[in-house]
Amino acid sequence: MVNYRKYGEWGSEDMNEKIFESNRAAWNQATAYHQKALNHSLHIGFQNPEFSTFKREHDSVVNDKLKQIDFSGKAIAHIPCNNGRELLSLMRFGAKEGVGFDISDAAISEAEELAEIAKENARFVRTNALEISETYTNYFDFIYISHGSLQWCPNLDDYFRVISRLLKKNGRIMIFEIHPFKYFFENGFRFEEQNFNKLTSYFETGMNHYSEGLDYFGHVKYESPEGFWFMHKMSEIVVSILHNGIEIEEFEEYPFDLDGDFDQGAAEKFPFSYLITAKKK
Ligand SMILES: C[S@@+](CC[C@H](N)C(=O)[O-])C[C@H]1O[C@@H](n2cnc3c(N)ncnc32)[C@H](O)[C@@H]1O
Repeated sequence: MVNYRKYGEWGSEDMNEKIFESNRAAWNQATAYHQKALNHSLHIGFQNPEFSTFKREHDSVVNDKLKQIDFSGKAIAHIPCNNGRELLSLMRFGAKEGVGFDISDAAISEAEELAEIAKENARFVRTNALEISETYTNYFDFIYISHGSLQWCPNLDDYFRVISRLLKKNGRIMIFEIHPFKYFFENGFRFEEQNFNKLTSYFETGMNHYSEGLDYFGHVKYESPEGFWFMHKMSEIVVSILHNGIEIEEFEEYPFDLDGDFDQGAAEKFPFSYLITAKKK
């Protein structure tokens, strides 16, 4: 846990601003490492109209759900969208238009490059998710939220208030996310070492941070601007959705480790991911 007092008063606007600016810098830097590790595979992949990141093995559960949705004529969004790979893949289910929102300048500029290659009707906006413009109020039929997204937001009620504002009535969200259980291990806990002091508390709302960078593709460690993230209990996730007028339709937990950090022996026994579908009332 970070001693957050040096950043200001917990929950204050001033502190949130520092958190988001540091996260933007951390993600801008991480993007270059990701690009190096991925070695243009997305640029090459999206030249093929059949290419989709949802064809990865660990996405099969969400791919099957997406195939059942009629996207024709629909406006969709991905928040946050990183470099657009998932939004561009979503567009291939037949949506009319797509908008991706992300705080990172570098991720958005890569997304724009990939959109040109993929030739999909998608555009990308560099913004804090909590400050998405009124232009998009009541705009979307479908919003996708995927792994590694909710942890960047200090307060989920704020995040789902925005999501609810952007949805049309009866618009739907799909969340395919890392399970809070997986975040227990995000601060260096290892089963073999039993270093329980490194377990992330499920109940501690204060911020955690990644100091060695965010290169989860190439696994290069580097000195990074602080990437602040927050543990959110499953109850907090569910209540924040419901509290903002969005009705949960499906909720399932899975053993799939979306980052491949655990071997199958461990991954089969724990809830490492979950999927929620919900509709705005
Ligand atoms: C792990 S990625 C998740 C997106 C997607 N699942 C992926 O794997 O590409 C996290 C993204 O959240 C973005 N992000 C972090 N804080 C944000 C904020 N406050 N508003 C918008 N985007 C944010 C980062 O820039 C990064 O692109």
